[in-house]
Amino acid sequence: MANNSSNGDNQTTTKPPPLPSPLRFSKFFQSNMRILVTGGAGFIGSHLVDKLMENEKNEVIVVDNFFTGSKDNLKKWIGHPRFELIRHDVTEPLLIEVDQIYHLACPASPIFYKYNPVKTIKTNVIGTLNMLGLAKRVGARILLTSTSEVYGDPLIHPQPETYWGNVNPIGVRSCYDEGKRVAETLMFDYHRQHGIEIRIARIFNTYGPRMNIDDGRVVSNFIAQALRGEPLTVQKPGTQTRSFCYVSDMVDGLVRLMEGENTGPINIGNPGEFTMTELAETVKELIKPDVEIKMVENTPDDPRQRKPDITKSKGITRMGAKGQVAGRPSPYGRGFPFETWSSQVVNANCMNNELQSENFSQQLSNVEGALEA
Ligand SMILES: NC(=O)c1ccc[n+]([C@@H]2O[C@H](COP(=O)([O-])OP(=O)(O)OC[C@H]3O[C@@H](n4cnc5c(N)ncnc54)[C@H](O)[C@@H]3O)[C@@H](O)[C@H]2O)c1
Repeated sequence: MANNSSNGDNQTTTKPPPLPSPLRFSKFFQSNMRILVTGGAGFIGSHLVDKLMENEKNEVIVVDNFFTGSKDNLKKWIGHPRFELIRHDVTEPLLIEVDQIYHLACPASPIFYKYNPVKTIKTNVIGTLNMLGLAKRVGARILLTSTSEVYGDPLIHPQPETYWGNVNPIGVRSCYDEGKRVAETLMFDYHRQHGIEIRIARIFNTYGPRMNIDDGRVVSNFIAQALRGEPLTVQKPGTQTRSFCYVSDMVDGLVRLMEGENTGPINIGNPGEFTMTELAETVKELIKPDVEIKMVENTPDDPRQRKPDITKSKGITRMGAKGQVAGRPSPYGRGFPFETWSSQVVNANCMNNELQSENFSQQLSNVEGALEA
């Protein structure tokens, strides 16, 4: 592990960034910021679009191949004069004029990224190369959404940005983990070699409305199972931990990182840590106390513990700041954003008609009652 060379601070280039479009200097200065969001029809991307569209000086262009994303997530913006949606795969080059690029395109759930691992690698490597090529040509700043998975099954806890990780290069998750690691390398090589302005966010588990209920991510998975009255399946041993960040905090962090001066990589996530058994018990208690918790075999290379060190992130993204969902008090004692449970349950329910039940309102008030107690 390097002590001092992996957080980006001393990897800055002396090369000036490529010039932005002459439009920026013309007397007919176009004041709108043209922002490209790849993967903008997905879970985090669509919330990011909502946030960017709040600023009337922003024009937002979404590029997505709809592998896991959906037009539904963006329906309120379709037809808006400051919004454009392009069906496009980032593994193909893209020639458009933009000032900033948020590069999110990549399936994030194991079910989807393992479905076609070669495509996942192509999306991470060729897709990121294409976006960096675009950034270079138009002089745009580019932000990559990397992942806590770059730390693999970490030998250091919590994980600071300086940790180089413990990743299996040939495992079934490697298409995602190693794909993101190469994407980070490409970002820094373009930065050093061509002066591109880069930002790298290492995202930890995020949850909230518009998650695909059946994509296997643990929060939505437990809630869906509880609502269906099925056993909550905890992968063995159940002591493995994760930290969960609410999506509004994540998006706030991404925008602050893009607008700030630090290249990253920066961890963005909630440091409150839960074992999978604790999480299952919380869901059971809140949604369906009589549901069974069942231990099942684990998937290969599942990390045993995962918690961001947000020392660096605090100053840049305000992660952990008072007023954030992650910073509010919790009846469970360790910062779990309990207020968001009800909205997660509502959204989980709305996402899938199959889950809509007549007694849902009753379930919801039970949840709220339990939280107030
Ligand atoms: N959600 C999390 O907890 C989490 C954690 C760590 C990192 N991330 C990263 O954040 C980003 C967004 O994650 P998410 O949870 O919103 O996932 P998501 O699957 O909901 O969104 C990904 C979007 O990218 C699109 N996409 C995939 N491959 C593409 C391609 N080749 N060309 C164009 N579009 C493509 C999908 O259709 C989808 O709209 C990803 O880069 C992911 O790796 C997410």
